[in-house]
Amino acid sequence: MEKKYQGEGVAIQYNLRRCIHAELCVKNMHQVFDPERRPWIDATQAPADAIVDIVSRCPSGALHSERTDGGLTESAPETNTGALWADGPIALHGEIQLQAAGVNDNRHAETRVTLCRCGASKNKPYCDNTHKTIGWTATESAEPNVKAFASGETALTVIASKDGPYEVNGPLTLTNAAGEVVYAGERTWLCRCGASSSKPFCDGTHNSIGFSAE
Ligand code: FES
Repeated sequence: MEKKYQGEGVAIQYNLRRCIHAELCVKNMHQVFDPERRPWIDATQAPADAIVDIVSRCPSGALHSERTDGGLTESAPETNTGALWADGPIALHGEIQLQAAGVNDNRHAETRVTLCRCGASKNKPYCDNTHKTIGWTATESAEPNVKAFASGETALTVIASKDGPYEVNGPLTLTNAAGEVVYAGERTWLCRCGASSSKPFCDGTHNSIGFSAE
């Protein structure tokens, strides 16, 4: 499922199942990422530093880069952030440890990931754009929950719990589609069944609707 494209001093890895077609790569570096070409990625068409920069903006984590010349690599940002896309996934950016069934070794270090929150992705815990085909809508109705970070921790651990929410441990600031902070803190549970009346937080509705997810 993951393909690798070698360039000058850098290789690009692409995971088709993680891709939600945000197209930042296509729009910003078309000479490398051209969906009309086969293969659609040609990593020889731009300098390695520029490729690392563009790849690091891929919100879903479908793209990764690997330096083969010892040069600049992507690093996690200093703070962990999450963006609730309008009627769509949570896009996390940070020092992320993801634990879920279906994820490599059930535990995976990441800097970027888009997580399903409509409950219908066929590639859980990742978003696969099913929210669009089912016409899922989300209203972030919960009161903002903002606390100071006190633990000194930097990493964010996200556990996709069986038939339940994302258990989130570690510092995270979460914003809604309008850019407003709806959560800042170090421990919470975020809805991933799509049915909470208190989005983005879990309110237990997953139990009453019989949500099922490994
Ligand atoms: S996961 Fe949606 S209400 Fe708990």
